[in-house]
Amino acid sequence: FRPLRWTFRFIYLSVLGSIAYIGYEIYQDHNPPPQVPQDPSKKTIVILGTGWGSVSLLKKLDTENYNVIVISPRNYFLFTPLLPSCTTGQIEHRSIMEPIRTICRSKKGAVTFYEAEASSVDVEKKVVKIHDNSDIRGATIETEVAYDMLVVGVGAENATFGIPGVRENSCFLKEIGDAQQIRKKIMDCVETAAFKDQPASEIDRLLHMVVVGGGPTGVEFAGELRDFFEDDIRKLVPEIADRFRVTLIEALPNVLPMFSKQLIEYTESTFKEEEIAIHTKTMVKKVTDKAVEAEVSKADGTKERVIFPYGLLVWATGNTLRPLVRDMMASIPAQKDSRRGLAVNEYLVVQGARDIWAVGDCAVAGYAPTAQVASQEGNFLARLFNNMARTQELEDRIQSLSSNLNLKPGVDVPAVSKEIEDAERQLRRVKDIKPFHYTHQGSLAYIGSEKAVADVAWFNGNFASGGTMTYFFWRSAYLSMVFSTRNRLLVINDWVKSKVFGRDISRE
Ligand code: FAD
Ligand code: NAI
Repeated sequence: FRPLRWTFRFIYLSVLGSIAYIGYEIYQDHNPPPQVPQDPSKKTIVILGTGWGSVSLLKKLDTENYNVIVISPRNYFLFTPLLPSCTTGQIEHRSIMEPIRTICRSKKGAVTFYEAEASSVDVEKKVVKIHDNSDIRGATIETEVAYDMLVVGVGAENATFGIPGVRENSCFLKEIGDAQQIRKKIMDCVETAAFKDQPASEIDRLLHMVVVGGGPTGVEFAGELRDFFEDDIRKLVPEIADRFRVTLIEALPNVLPMFSKQLIEYTESTFKEEEIAIHTKTMVKKVTDKAVEAEVSKADGTKERVIFPYGLLVWATGNTLRPLVRDMMASIPAQKDSRRGLAVNEYLVVQGARDIWAVGDCAVAGYAPTAQVASQEGNFLARLFNNMARTQELEDRIQSLSSNLNLKPGVDVPAVSKEIEDAERQLRRVKDIKPFHYTHQGSLAYIGSEKAVADVAWFNGNFASGGTMTYFFWRSAYLSMVFSTRNRLLVINDWVKSKVFGRDISRE
């Protein structure tokens, strides 16, 4: 029994070690040490946005080397991969929000945060105009912030392609407010459908949930919605349960175009089992308050007009440029040929601009607009800026040692020369920073019924899998990616809570 006893001891010590580590992290978050104050002699880095790109940069940046100012209308980081789960209450919205003030306070050097929107950038004068667009405003609502280095990480907006009625009638799924609105509307549709003397045709319309866009946002939301109805609403409001329908409309011939053919087929067959109707080759042309009008491309080349009455419409057709990015592109001549965002070089420098870098969905570096890309870009910029500061430090040191060598009498020449040599060697190493290179770790998507699909990079190839095991992998992968221990614990708590007690269906 000796090996067994040692195994138990090992497990016991590992658990104890993990608890101690989590406890230490929580203590550190709650009681951060004093910070190095900002210093006017240092360069100012202004970071726009608190999304994946900007926060990844901030987390890895040695802020004691710069005066760092973060500007964003959102005073928190949002863990978007779990946003679809918030629409049904599987996860509570605060569990995936991390206050930016906590992140700023955890840094060694002080970081300034302004809750504001950057409205324009003067690339010649190197100033950003910002305005406070929150509900409560003070005497100053608009001002300017000067920068030595600027990082643009403002993400993107929801694309509507100018289709009439989309903005007025549909819900998007990009921000916390969108998920809250969807959650409220789902329950409103259910309660209205269950209203006394509601006509059958109206019940059918109200309980028809239409999702436009078969990318990962649309697919994940449709899956979450179906789970919500099967797990909770069917039990709690049985009188209307059989009338509930989910329809996914996609303009292309299939959903999830970024996944392998095998996983696309698996997703489509899973949706069939879940009774989620997929309408591919169907392009939405117009939206009214109660119906979606679409055009179906048929096999014989003809087109047919179809109407989908709906109770809830979720619009998930991808990204378009934010006005700030559009204005910047218009003011920088070298950006005139770029269409999808700020064109950057291999060091993420905005082409044609001085001391401006861009990361994430607002930058065009040749990669998909994903959190994975944005966070790797943010990490890269942190390394670049840390190296730039170290370079400056080493150059100053070499200069000061060299002047000692030549001017001061009684200097130990061999010792100082050796120090200079060491510093020069370090400088060469630090200066040798390679261009940004994205490493694709794979794509994951939840498809409902506790199933997920994964296309994961595996040595030099790809490993494709779908099903319940992949769902557990999906959960653990996302849990490990959540930035803070606090949020990780909150997410685990939400998963357990909704499994044990069911989702909370009260409408706020
Ligand atoms: P964002 O994260 O969008 O952040 C932009 C920031 O800029 C925000 O803080 C915003 O408030 C701020 N901002 C906006 N305008 C201004 C302004 N004028 N001035 C200052 N600040 C401004 N990707 C994956 O890789 N895996 C996934 O599983 C995944 N799931 C997703 C699920 C959903 C529902 C959605 C919507 C997206 C998902 N993505 C996923 C994509 C991913 O979220 C984005 O690619 C990523 O957020 C881009 O990061 P970003 O930093 O460029 O922008
Ligand atoms: P998307 O751009 O990936 O997909 C949008 C879909 O809408 C496209 O397939 C397009 O053909 C379709 N569409 C456009 N106009 C239409 C119309 N009028 N009628 C019908 N269909 C129309 O957008 P999505 O899903 O919002 O994703 C945005 C980015 O975020 C992507 O890069 C995606 O990879 C990433 N993301 C990744 C996730 C993951 O990895 N699990 C989850 C969510 C988003």
